[in-house]
Amino acid sequence: MHTVAIQSVRGRNGLRGGIGYQDGDWRSSSTCLPLALAGVIESPREVLRLSAGHAAALAELLQVLSCGEESAALTFDHLGNSWQERSLSWALARIAADEREHHGLLTGLRASLPQPRPDPSLEATMRRFFMRLADRDVMVHCVRIVAIDSAVCRVLGMLRCRGKPLADELQVGSILRRIHRDEARHVAIASRCATPLLQSVRGREIAADALEQLTQVLRLRADSLDSLSVDPDRLFARLCAIPRLLR
Ligand SMILES: [Fe+2]
Ligand SMILES: [Fe+2]
Repeated sequence: MHTVAIQSVRGRNGLRGGIGYQDGDWRSSSTCLPLALAGVIESPREVLRLSAGHAAALAELLQVLSCGEESAALTFDHLGNSWQERSLSWALARIAADEREHHGLLTGLRASLPQPRPDPSLEATMRRFFMRLADRDVMVHCVRIVAIDSAVCRVLGMLRCRGKPLADELQVGSILRRIHRDEARHVAIASRCATPLLQSVRGREIAADALEQLTQVLRLRADSLDSLSVDPDRLFARLCAIPRLLR
């Protein structure tokens, strides 16, 4: 048995985040972290009940999972404005609004978690990933979005599986459930936008390439996935299978 205390840290939005735990194994002992949702007043009932190990792993994983939301919102604003068909244009604008909400939710969540160490190699790999995501050809861009959002659904699905540490945490579980539900809808809408290309061999190659890039980023967070009871090799195998399932 041992006693450890970690000082509070200041979140990005100025609200308090941090962890404290005592008397027990640091990976398994549960702790309460104030949940600092952006724009939401901190309430005593909104706390995260995560062990220090799980909180640290989630914080590291969110370095990847939360970083595309703002740029996705801009992308969908642009796609929504340029799309001719009215119903799709409206649906794309709604995705942009979702992405902004995801950004707010994940920013609040990150502010409530311990701050991970800066990781230059992760940052460089993510920069390369985002640079290769966009394309002048809207169809190509949409195919990549379908692939990436499908992958995000797989990741969230595995993190939220019954019995996994994050599934048992009320606040985190509800944020991940909300994002998972939205991303599934984004896949359906982006698939409608990209239908002709998506049904071709070239479309599936484009999707496979985007997923390979994403897998390279996620490999840098394999330990965090493992800590959250997600087998990284199984996850990466599932991501590889996505292009075969796209139609
Ligand atoms: Fe999103
Ligand atoms: Fe999305």
